Amino acid sequence: MRTKIIAGNWKMNKGINDSKALAASIVEKANSINGVDIVLCPTYLSLSSVAEAIKGSNCKLGAQDAHWEDDGAYTGKISVSMLKEAGVEYVILGHSEQRQFFNETDETVNKKVVKVLAAELKPIICVGESLEQREAEKTEEVVIAQVKGAYANISEEDAQKTVVAYEPIWAIGTGKTASTAQAQEVHATIRKLLAELYSQSTADSIRIQYGGSMKPENAKDLLSQPDIDGGLIGGAALKPDSFIGIIEAA
Ligand code: PGA
Repeated sequence: MRTKIIAGNWKMNKGINDSKALAASIVEKANSINGVDIVLCPTYLSLSSVAEAIKGSNCKLGAQDAHWEDDGAYTGKISVSMLKEAGVEYVILGHSEQRQFFNETDETVNKKVVKVLAAELKPIICVGESLEQREAEKTEEVVIAQVKGAYANISEEDAQKTVVAYEPIWAIGTGKTASTAQAQEVHATIRKLLAELYSQSTADSIRIQYGGSMKPENAKDLLSQPDIDGGLIGGAALKPDSFIGIIEAA
């Protein structure tokens, strides 16, 4: 049985104080919920304040990206050792906004996956097609290439420590959710590919989250699909009640 994993991707929202307050109100409500992994991913700046707010709770800390170098002249970047020191356990990699606006490629995602795993952190590897690609019936092709790219040269043992997030770009922040059948179909494709790359038991152990306008109202349907093991939540993660509603659905 795969434990469901619900992660809040706060993106570029909430300063240090607001992050702390949001984390505190999530912790208050989440503490009585068992059997779901809960991850909060604030901005780099708020990692420490959120770490403090979730101390001793059932919430884990995640970051939204990491650089693949150890240190040096990389203005604006953060290394995995810095994240680890801040108490981070999970790192979102290859988010579509990174791919769209900041030149993230399958190759840079792979370099980051390698680095994050070497630091014993857990990558949440994001993949997903654009509307144009879906309409051109290229979803499967695009997602397969992204997964293969991200897992290049990753050992089976390391692959078992990863999480995948399938996020159709056209569903992110748009209020449009993939139907449960559309989402399940891609999730099953990803799991089949992981079985081909590694083994069925490894594929069965890797959690695949859905992301893209997930909210309490649609979470239950999505999360009841056989290959949907959680959610990567943007907008709804910024409101304690809706985030908790999704966790409860899980
Ligand atoms: P959304 O974002 O829930 O606001 O659609 C999801 C994501 O980008 O991770």
